[in-house]
Amino acid sequence: MPVTILAIESSCDDTSVAVIKDGVVLSNCVANQEAHIQYGGVVPEVASRAHQVNMVPVLEMALKKAGIHKRELQAIAFTRGPGLMGSLIVGVSFAKALALSLDLPMIEVNHMHAHVLAHFAENPKPKFPFLCLTVSGGHTQIVLVRDFLDQEVLGQTLDDAAGEAFDKSGKLLGLDYPAGPILDKLARNGKPVYPFPIPNIEGLDFSFSGLKTSILYFLKKQLADNENFIKENINDICASIQDIIVTILLKKLQKAAKETGINEIAIAGGVSANSGLRNAFEALGKEEGWNTYIPAFQFCTDNAGMIGVTAHYKYLAGEFCTHEVAPYTR
Ligand code: KG4
Ligand code: ZN
Repeated sequence: MPVTILAIESSCDDTSVAVIKDGVVLSNCVANQEAHIQYGGVVPEVASRAHQVNMVPVLEMALKKAGIHKRELQAIAFTRGPGLMGSLIVGVSFAKALALSLDLPMIEVNHMHAHVLAHFAENPKPKFPFLCLTVSGGHTQIVLVRDFLDQEVLGQTLDDAAGEAFDKSGKLLGLDYPAGPILDKLARNGKPVYPFPIPNIEGLDFSFSGLKTSILYFLKKQLADNENFIKENINDICASIQDIIVTILLKKLQKAAKETGINEIAIAGGVSANSGLRNAFEALGKEEGWNTYIPAFQFCTDNAGMIGVTAHYKYLAGEFCTHEVAPYTR
């Protein structure tokens, strides 16, 4: 009998529902919340309320697109954490209500774990063991993936995440939230002419908070000489910021590959949608003889498809959870 799972993702500001049949994503619907732009960042209370409003329409759309009736489902999967508590509570409670009313088992999924397994939504799939650089708005990790349900974090950020580095630098330039994709677009027309320092962090860990400070001081200095500095050089500034973030990420990934001797290498998470990172990762992979894996855009940023794919492997392993399960934020 086919395994059909409905998956819910509500960890931050995107409400997403997907239907997955035998590990294949039939639908992956996302409602983005634009209400946060005016505040320059995600406002947790606004996010939870928007999840509450969006959940039912997104769920109906996901079932309709997949051509699946809710009576055909075998399990309900949901993001348990990490994320914003209010946002998670909406998704977790909704999943519990749905599972109870349909008398279905529940599968809890770790959001970061799911970003990595997004690679199994498509072909070609990485072979175990592989390394995954998971870069999102809240996390930056190098993960050793031994099997679907066996992942070990080898290194991570000590402060800001890579996505935060993009968003906070963009904010300094006056870009809307989230600044990452806007900075990416502007960088395409610029050159990385402004040098920013690479932090000296031991092992496979990262740090991005110093970069934000050096960008701030750089801009202050330039603006004192020319108040139109940002406006006149926006493309080159964006290209320089993107270049340094990508360099920091790939240097550590290269180190991890050398230390582990693994040449199956993947990137995942919202920042893996960045064109500079995608191009530089491909180029480095060619140089180093890696087999590289980059998710399609719909599986980079937050989506329930990746939650469903992860749930599929948990279903096969018999990993279900009870109704007592509560969200976790970190
Ligand atoms: O994985 P994700 O959707 O949500 C979290 O789990 O945090 O990642 C969101 C992050 C944001 O910081 C956003 O600015 C960044 O991913 N992002 C990008 C791009 N697209 C999304 N950063 C740089 N370039 C992009 N094209
Ligand atoms: Zn995410």
